[in-house]
Amino acid sequence: MDIPLCDLKAQYASIASEIDPVVREVIASTRYIGGPEVSAFEEEFARYCGAAHCVGVASGTAALHLAFIGAGVGPGDEVVTVSHTFIATAEPIVTLGAKVKFVDIDEKTYNMDVNQLEAAITEKTKLLLPVHIYGQPADMDPVLEIAAAKGIQVIEDSAQSHGARYKGERTCGGIAPMGTFSFYPGKNLGAYGDAGAITCADAEVAERMRSLSNHGRADKYLHDEEGFNFRLDALQAAILRIKLRHLPDWTEGRRRVAKMYDERLAANDKVVTPYVAPFAEPVYHLYVVRVPNRDHVLAGLRDKGIDAGIHYPVPLHLQPAYRYLGYEEGALPVTEKIAKEIVSLPIFPEMTESQVDRVVETLESLL
Ligand SMILES: Cc1ncc(COP(=O)(O)O)c(C=O)c1O
Repeated sequence: MDIPLCDLKAQYASIASEIDPVVREVIASTRYIGGPEVSAFEEEFARYCGAAHCVGVASGTAALHLAFIGAGVGPGDEVVTVSHTFIATAEPIVTLGAKVKFVDIDEKTYNMDVNQLEAAITEKTKLLLPVHIYGQPADMDPVLEIAAAKGIQVIEDSAQSHGARYKGERTCGGIAPMGTFSFYPGKNLGAYGDAGAITCADAEVAERMRSLSNHGRADKYLHDEEGFNFRLDALQAAILRIKLRHLPDWTEGRRRVAKMYDERLAANDKVVTPYVAPFAEPVYHLYVVRVPNRDHVLAGLRDKGIDAGIHYPVPLHLQPAYRYLGYEEGALPVTEKIAKEIVSLPIFPEMTESQVDRVVETLESLL
């Protein structure tokens, strides 16, 4: 592809002189598991999110898994989330013996439609799990208010929203009592392999999740409870520490690209560009437009060397894996409609104006 969806080579080239010595240092130190790089990253990332604590873990999926345990999710419980997300949002719910309940999304923001929550909540509901999709925060205050009124917990799946702000002063992962992050390589803050983190307001819950991520250890061979090997490794932590320092600039780069797309596509009535809610300062993990002839547009872009994508083509409630939940087609009309119209255009901080122009010209020729 001439224009990738996200350009990790360009990013590495711009920071190689900082990354390479640190990687060598960690290798030479032989502290590969845990240690000072992991603790320092946890402190720095907690501060970045405005959260009291951070637990570094092996992936965004592991973060969700541990956060659900931290929130007390177990067999017989229900967790209310969206179907318009990656399957990892739901997988650990089922692994823990709880039931996933999907609500529809808002047609403008593509985030959880908070008006659907009351109807979805039952006496079994343990947790509300909004996903800040594409880099834009979900409308968290109504979610937190409903949860408080009903004695239900809230976790933010912030895998796509590092640094996105809600109502000015609150940052994703620091809005609810717990948030989870993925540092999958293509994320706005991406490791050089799998990595993730949980942000958490409560010190005891954070300590329990940290211990669970490390076999439930109280000491090397003393285990308070059975846990997992869900640790963040030192090399990834060292890389993430360097990349975190660049994240504000990279976010500005993404916003610059999004603005160029917005301006160029504003007059085209066949394209629906991303809507930014008044409460949101998005970080544009993805730049997702809606077009009438999506499959033709996607194939045409790829044919011309432009790596567009679909996030996500099949909503979770219609996935073969979740057929047993009994959702029929039509159950979540907005989610299903959006899934047929969306296309993710290339966006990355280093993207040039001429690359944006080429994407826009090609897109318009295909409409
Ligand atoms: C919304 C969402 N939740 C969870 C995950 C899982 O993260 P990971 O791939 O690091 O396990 C991802 C990313 O892949 C995601 O986009």
